[in-house]
Amino acid sequence: MPKKVLILSSFILVIAVLFLFFILKPAVSNGDNAGLGKTSQNRKTEMETTIRNVTEETVYYTVEYVGRAGEPEERILEVGAIDHFLGTFDIDVTFIKDGEPETYNLDGGMPYSFRYDENDLLELYEGSHGSEDAEDLAPFVPTPMIVVERMLELGEVNAQSVLYDLGCGDGRIVVQAAKKYGARGVGIDIDPVRIEESMENAKKEGVEGLVEFRLGDVMKVDFSEATVITLYLLPESNEILRPLLEKFLKEGTFVVSHNYYIPGWSENEITVDTVYTDDGEEHDIYLYKK
Ligand SMILES: C[S@@+](CC[C@H](N)C(=O)[O-])C[C@H]1O[C@@H](n2cnc3c(N)ncnc32)[C@H](O)[C@@H]1O
Repeated sequence: MPKKVLILSSFILVIAVLFLFFILKPAVSNGDNAGLGKTSQNRKTEMETTIRNVTEETVYYTVEYVGRAGEPEERILEVGAIDHFLGTFDIDVTFIKDGEPETYNLDGGMPYSFRYDENDLLELYEGSHGSEDAEDLAPFVPTPMIVVERMLELGEVNAQSVLYDLGCGDGRIVVQAAKKYGARGVGIDIDPVRIEESMENAKKEGVEGLVEFRLGDVMKVDFSEATVITLYLLPESNEILRPLLEKFLKEGTFVVSHNYYIPGWSENEITVDTVYTDDGEEHDIYLYKK
């Protein structure tokens, strides 16, 4: 091959390689990101409002899109089903509670659940996520620190403990157990925002080496290494979790539950303690031992 042709073809080859590198690289990395659970979950919660039916009856309700003209839309939500409203606009939801219409304005892009209230009446609450393949066990409500402290005492947490907080929220229980007692801890939450907060809190308190936070469904986790389990979930959620506590936990493992008992586990109950916060609010703590 003549030298000129060889130089020219090498030059074209180099240009082609550079072209492929710069043009194709962003496309490949975009594709990778789109496949990551965390990224797609974030995007999903930002883009839709979800309403889940966690009751034992079909729920009939109407929806009005705030700022948009038109008649209210009639909805029928079967037991266990989830309605999805794409977009981040607010919606007004009306349902019949105890014979009277009840209307709530829902923030666009957030998860909600129909549940029963303390009087067994239909109520609409904030939810924790709108994924079809996981139970919504409770919305995020952090345990006050004074209650956290007592939960750790009741669970006899020490440097040998392995504490699992099932539905860890901002990670405060796991972080405090590590900070105060040197305990190893694992926090699991379905909400990526909570996991990020937990990791930030662990970093702020300098306990990253002792704790781990996992994004996921607590119903799909093996927590058999735990010596202490902490819970702040609804009673019906504790009920569906109980078979897993029975399956996984070793004899002698403490289960400490904020405010709600574990239905069907009374033979494992050791004590119920009460803590009062500064505003006079009463918090019960249920202590169980496997
Ligand atoms: C009431 S908060 C308790 C937070 C924390 N444990 C505390 O006591 O401060 C309940 C948490 O459970 C999480 N959660 C709800 N369903 C879940 C599921 N299926 N798997 C994992 N976490 C869940 C929610 O996102 C929420 O952060």
